[in-house]
Amino acid sequence: MVERSGSITIMNGLSATTPAKTKKLGGYVGFSNYPNQVHRKAVKKGFYFTLMVVGESGLGKSTLVNTLFNIGLYPEKSDVTPSKETPKTIELQTLSADIEESGVKLTLSVIDTPGFGDFVNNEDSWKPILDNIEARYSAYLDQESRVNRSRVVDNRVHACIYFIAPTGHALKPLDVEFMKRLHTKVNLIPVIAKSDTLTEEEVATFKERILSDLSFHNIQIFKPTLYENDDPDTVAEVSEITSKIPFAVVGGTEELVVNGRKVRGRQYPWGVIEVDNEEHNDFVKLRQMLVRTNMEELKDYTDTVLYEKFRTDKLQSQGHVQDNTVFKEINPVTKMEEERQLHEAKMLKMEAEMKMVFQQKVQEKEQKLKNSEDELYARHKDLKEALEKQRQELEEKKKRLESGLRPMTDDKSKKKGFPFKQ
Ligand code: GTP
Ligand code: MG
Repeated sequence: MVERSGSITIMNGLSATTPAKTKKLGGYVGFSNYPNQVHRKAVKKGFYFTLMVVGESGLGKSTLVNTLFNIGLYPEKSDVTPSKETPKTIELQTLSADIEESGVKLTLSVIDTPGFGDFVNNEDSWKPILDNIEARYSAYLDQESRVNRSRVVDNRVHACIYFIAPTGHALKPLDVEFMKRLHTKVNLIPVIAKSDTLTEEEVATFKERILSDLSFHNIQIFKPTLYENDDPDTVAEVSEITSKIPFAVVGGTEELVVNGRKVRGRQYPWGVIEVDNEEHNDFVKLRQMLVRTNMEELKDYTDTVLYEKFRTDKLQSQGHVQDNTVFKEINPVTKMEEERQLHEAKMLKMEAEMKMVFQQKVQEKEQKLKNSEDELYARHKDLKEALEKQRQELEEKKKRLESGLRPMTDDKSKKKGFPFKQ
């Protein structure tokens, strides 16, 4: 057997907040293999992820989705011909694909919002998108509330890429309105669309402007959590990703040849903008965050924070009230103090009971002694009286003898004891 050492944490059962003691294991128990078990199960089941893309028509949403997952979810458009027609409603479209990489399956769903922002009056264009996000939460809640929950399908939106037009100025009122309405409902990932139409300096100042606009309007966007105790490579990767937010992206699936290298990119008369080149744009960083480093965090935040808030609000609006006493937190110090007081009271009671029993026994003993003393005294008195009587009788006899009288003899036995000379 392979000798391995590990560490074990023993909780003393009082409370999860009680400081845990860590003990070194002498041999191999096997639980260090647990992550592998989880990994095997997850790979077998496959993963799922639902992504929403929102933005004005022609900003490159469909192209970016195709570029991200290397799949033809959409039929390719051959030229730049954003629709000039003003659609009456925003039409939401969901596309799905099962994709596989190194034996790992991912069911990807993309919700597209064609035409967003194209209305003459864009005031409520965020509404159908919000409704769609909430309808998906509602569907999930309904499934969760079923008696049989064995086949719960999670269609909740885990991330929403919001395409900002590459104006180079500031956020448009429509961008602000949309993000304000949606930032507490979904993980928002703003990107600068078609960033190849801006110079490097323009991108830098536009990013700064966007970030200050977002903070001015208190809009919360998704930022990866940095865990200090992660391995240095991951910490560096996550910091690098965060520093590029909002990502300035370029989409394109066309294969071009640059100095003998095959690249995906966009051809310009002065050269090629490479999609997968980090020197040219932030597409790689966006994909890293979405797929490589933070897919699980996006799903987890959706489930534990965004959906949870929706669920609480919805149930409360239906008149459900939470009994918080069942979640009363137990403070270990108070709990120990209570237990100590109970123990002390128990000890005091036991002591009082023992004292009572002891006194009872002493009293009984004293009574017994007194009784036997009285008995002894009575016997002593009887004996004394008998002796006195005997002494008087002898005295009588003595007197009689001395006076020459015959002693009074009652019986023969007594004569035996006092032989007289006749
Ligand atoms: P709708 O479906 O109408 O909402 O548009 P969309 O946002 O999905 O845009 P789509 O991906 O269809 O792209 C519109 C046009 O922009 C196409 O001709 C693309 O080739 C082009 N395009 C896409 N991404 C980029 C980009 O990053 N830079 C440049 N310059 N053009 C792009
Ligand atoms: Mg499209």
